[in-house]
Amino acid sequence: MDLAQLTQDLEDLRADAVAGVDGAADVATLEALELDVLGRKGRLTSVLRGIGALPVEDRPRVGAVANAVRQAVESAIAERGTVLRAGALEARLRSEAIDVTMPGRPIRRGTLHPSIEAMSEIAAIFAQFGFVVYESPEVEDDLTNFQKLNIPPDHPARDLWDTLYVDIPGLLLRTHTSPGQIRVMESTKPPIRALLPGRCFRYEAVDASHGFEFFQVEGLMIDEGVTLGDLRGLLDQFAHAMFGAGKKTRFRPGYYPFTEPSVAFDVECLVCGGPGCAACGRSGWMTILGAGMVHPVVLQYGGLDPERYQGFAFGMGPERIKMLRHGITDLRLFLENDLRFLEQFR
Ligand code: PHE
Repeated sequence: MDLAQLTQDLEDLRADAVAGVDGAADVATLEALELDVLGRKGRLTSVLRGIGALPVEDRPRVGAVANAVRQAVESAIAERGTVLRAGALEARLRSEAIDVTMPGRPIRRGTLHPSIEAMSEIAAIFAQFGFVVYESPEVEDDLTNFQKLNIPPDHPARDLWDTLYVDIPGLLLRTHTSPGQIRVMESTKPPIRALLPGRCFRYEAVDASHGFEFFQVEGLMIDEGVTLGDLRGLLDQFAHAMFGAGKKTRFRPGYYPFTEPSVAFDVECLVCGGPGCAACGRSGWMTILGAGMVHPVVLQYGGLDPERYQGFAFGMGPERIKMLRHGITDLRLFLENDLRFLEQFR
């Protein structure tokens, strides 16, 4: 091995390596090449192994050539690497490109059931007057559903609230939310402003206006000096918020064993506005709810002194409210789970 030979080997290595670098098609090939030429056990190192055979004075010259070769190969690799990496990035960006103008897949959104929606609308209106929502059990006892509401066993009024019974004696499915009045009175001190939304059940022949299962919203206010006028004023506010400002309303005498006096609360017909039409049975009025002053006996059953406290109660059907507002003529639609009906309440 002499100086000329070693120098020639180094030049050959440079030419071969640079040609390889320039021909490398991707970064992986380039990295393999770098390892093969410049790595610790690479070709440059193995050529330089011959340096030991040279006279001492020749060695620095070979070292200089070797450094130049190393630098040339390194800079060729760096340059080629820049080109290849830019190309790879370009290709990846192109392959991962997404069309942001493409419409997304629609998410199927559920909606509140119209009965539930009606109950929250009702609750939102009465909340403005300080009414707080309470819950009361759907499986009720005879005492609370009937007797404490002044409906003793064998009272003919029981026919109005015939129900479904549970296997446990004395328990039944509540026929109205009115037993909630008793439960609130028993657990809360006046002043009371309670709203009781919930599911009710009746032993009914199902038709367009009767269901065996439906919702009610009960209201109860008890304090000293509460009057029928307070009830009227509150219900007027409710009717105007629910059906439109300025709608005419009226009280008609009604009958419930647990209120005295009892009333039916009507709003002017939402279809004809007064003269009478098929929707209002030619009367010009639509009945919204039943109400009255809480019977003194009921106050007593609730643990309150009727000499000190008075109050009113009302009960309405959220389905009926929806039916009146949207001109729906069949109550059964609310329980059929037909999407063609339900999706109209978006
Ligand atoms: N509970 C009665 C019904 O189901 C409605 C009502 C509630 C009437 C409160 C008066 C007072 O028909």
